[in-house]
Amino acid sequence: MTTTIRPESETDRDAIWHLTKAAFEGKPYAGGDEQDLVNSLRACGALTVSLVATDVDEVVGQITFSPATISSDVGHWFALGPVSVMPARQREGIGAMLIEAGMKVITEQGAWGCILTGNPLYYSRHGFEPAAEHCPDNEPKEYFMLRLVGETKPVGQFAFHEAFYAGS
Ligand SMILES: CC(C)(COP(=O)(O)OP(=O)(O)OC[C@H]1O[C@@H](n2cnc3c(N)ncnc32)[C@H](O)[C@@H]1OP(=O)(O)O)[C@@H](O)C(=O)NCCC(=O)NCCS
Repeated sequence: MTTTIRPESETDRDAIWHLTKAAFEGKPYAGGDEQDLVNSLRACGALTVSLVATDVDEVVGQITFSPATISSDVGHWFALGPVSVMPARQREGIGAMLIEAGMKVITEQGAWGCILTGNPLYYSRHGFEPAAEHCPDNEPKEYFMLRLVGETKPVGQFAFHEAFYAGS
């Protein structure tokens, strides 16, 4: 099967919601509201980048990037997440394709780097490094990671967009 990556379109929204729900369903680390987060970010104008992976006309994966802020106010930072691949299509490299395509888009948009809270075993394969010293107070330090785009390192503590905490 041939997987294509492209920006989301309006008609993908329902498919993204169902895909995200299916991908996170039953995961011990899931908050249960990942599918709603994508909609919340979109509603606030903070869904800066949303790419879908499609096969023929079916959405089989999606990745979200939103703006991140830092206490020093220096730099242009993004947050990755959620990223989802349809359970039946996992372990085919679609997640990797979405991450690399998304990093390319945010780099073109002037990103200095990208943060996330996620499994270090997975994201260390994609250039993310532990960044506990820059972790927001309300996130688990051991899962907080950063991938720099250039050489410039961040100064201060990051924050995710407020939409991440809308359901809490
Ligand atoms: C994480 C996810 C997007 C990866 O998509 P994918 O298309 O399966 O990823 P890839 O094919 O590029 O990579 C698969 C590899 O990543 C590993 N992997 C996937 N999720 C992982 C996780 N949470 N922790 C550690 N490793 C993980 C797989 O075991 C596989 O390893 P292998 O190559 O040694 O077999 C997908 O598994 C998914 O949708 N998971 C549920 C939602 C989720 O957890 N999203 C990320 C939140 S941090």
